[in-house]
Amino acid sequence: MTEAAALIRDQAPGFTPKLGLVLGSGLGPLAEEVEGAVRIPYTALPGFPRSGVSGHAGAVVLGTLAGLPVAVFAGRAHYYEHGNASEMRVPIETLKALGAEALLLTNAAGSTVKEVGPGNVMLITDHINFAGANPLIGTTSGDSRFVGLSDAYDRSMSVRLRSVAQRQDIPLAEGVYMWFSGPSFETPAEIRAARILGAQAVGMSTVPEVIIARYLGLRVAALSMITNLAAGMSDEVLSHAHTQAEAAKGSARFKTLITAFCAEASVKGL
Ligand code: HPA
Repeated sequence: MTEAAALIRDQAPGFTPKLGLVLGSGLGPLAEEVEGAVRIPYTALPGFPRSGVSGHAGAVVLGTLAGLPVAVFAGRAHYYEHGNASEMRVPIETLKALGAEALLLTNAAGSTVKEVGPGNVMLITDHINFAGANPLIGTTSGDSRFVGLSDAYDRSMSVRLRSVAQRQDIPLAEGVYMWFSGPSFETPAEIRAARILGAQAVGMSTVPEVIIARYLGLRVAALSMITNLAAGMSDEVLSHAHTQAEAAKGSARFKTLITAFCAEASVKGL
């Protein structure tokens, strides 16, 4: 068990999260929906990242969301902050040590599909690791580091997200997420290349967390909040402030979808 898991156990005795949730840029308000919340700042947890990115709070919130015991990671650290792809390894190891089965990742992303503009939610069905970094480089665990990613995104969690979205009248796009290191945004040429390579969304996070979670045997699902059409596809000037503002606008939809997902999982199991 990680030191952080032991500290969390002290503050939330007997609590076992079933699902972990990582909240992306501007999506933090979901953490306020957690009932019976125990909130622990990352600064109190050894090995947790110190995110310096605005819009990323940096706290783990334990409690129930629509009846499902969850651990919400409000704030992530990114590869572009220090060039370390395993920034989120300790939080995800801690989640596993606390007994969780699955991880639902969220992010803000740009869309390469004209028809899927800002405000849309996209279910990630697969990814392209275009940053080329890997959080498992340097892992000394022998052969277990050769993690298969053919089925990285959990089928049954995805099926449930689709059906819940339909019931809640939330259009749910689907596609491949391409990880760019950031922190600069892409060029229009990179976006044309991304489209040719098969990406429907581009962003600066999530992929390393998926790899770590699969390494640890957690089931994974991931959702993108589309905050903009990708570079060169509109006249909009891309900026972090723009990403945060658009993610905040779309966060109500996200909240509805994730809460409904948790409600069903609390009754039927994950
Ligand atoms: N590119 C990369 N990351 C992003 C974008 C984008 O267009 N929008 C939000 N995060």
